[in-house]
Amino acid sequence: MADFNIKSIGVLTSGGDSPGMNTAIRAVVRSCAYYNIKCIGIRKGFEGLINNHMSELDARSVKHIINRGGTMLQTARCQEFITKEGRQKSFENINYNKIDGLIVIGGDGSFKGASVFYKEFGVPFIGVPGTIDNDIFGTDYTIGFDTALNTAVEAIDRIRDTATSHNRVFFVEVMGRDAGFIALNSGIASGAQDILIPETKDSLEAMFQSLEKSEHSGKNSSIIVVAEGEELGNVFELAKETEKKFPDYDVRVSVLGHIQRGGNPSCMDRVIASRLGVSAVEGLLEGKTNVMVGVRSNSTVFTPIEEAIKKHNEIDKELIKIAEILAV
Ligand code: F6P
Repeated sequence: MADFNIKSIGVLTSGGDSPGMNTAIRAVVRSCAYYNIKCIGIRKGFEGLINNHMSELDARSVKHIINRGGTMLQTARCQEFITKEGRQKSFENINYNKIDGLIVIGGDGSFKGASVFYKEFGVPFIGVPGTIDNDIFGTDYTIGFDTALNTAVEAIDRIRDTATSHNRVFFVEVMGRDAGFIALNSGIASGAQDILIPETKDSLEAMFQSLEKSEHSGKNSSIIVVAEGEELGNVFELAKETEKKFPDYDVRVSVLGHIQRGGNPSCMDRVIASRLGVSAVEGLLEGKTNVMVGVRSNSTVFTPIEEAIKKHNEIDKELIKIAEILAV
């Protein structure tokens, strides 16, 4: 299996953290131990490469992290790596530490940086998709999505309790700066009356109609799940418009925010993170580079990084229809 050019692998987490990143780090470190490869943990994403903050990790150094949220290596959105000088420093530290390949656990912004770095300096790398947003092409699931969904659904269930007790309309904002996967899935799972996501063209009129339909069909409360990146307006603006249109409605807003990013990873995230971590190490040893490893139709696949960056996962139209049917 081993390509003997790869004797040492550096691993880092970059961008927003997501539950399961620790599980992925553990999988990378333990796979390196299994294949007798040195593994170096790089702290705070690309900042650690630039500032030479890194140290060797052995199989035992990742004990008891399989179930922990966050990332033991910490993470950052590193501006300096966007500069040529930052990447030059990184290359010098890679040589100094004798790192032969990199595993970058993060989102498409992180992959973009790693890809530029690969083209300039030829350091092989494999991307592992870690973000709660599930907005990366080349994988059906990103690490952290399932946990974030479960957190959001649990929170919305609680909001339902209080919403029904007071006959209220609740606007609940879930994360997803550019994507509505969390909103659509958590909205269906929590029985939302309406779901607003950036991928669909929404209107106030349609939202008001949905609220009227809810009232006329005998519901005493309604929950509208809104993605952070919704173009029609944020939850506060939408609530204000609703109060103007329906002065009798008792309207409330809840922004779930960063609680969606924390917590113990779900079983599904742990299994995906373990699979992807092992495959990333094996991929580097097989000579793969400038690719992202993902899971599609339950198989591990490698996608050229350019595709993973440029293409977008389509929102499932069937799910949109299901949400509409069930809000009858
Ligand atoms: O990319 C993941 C994500 O959680 C988005 O859904 C959200 O918009 C963003 O990160 C928040 O980033 P930050 O933690 O930097 O505020």
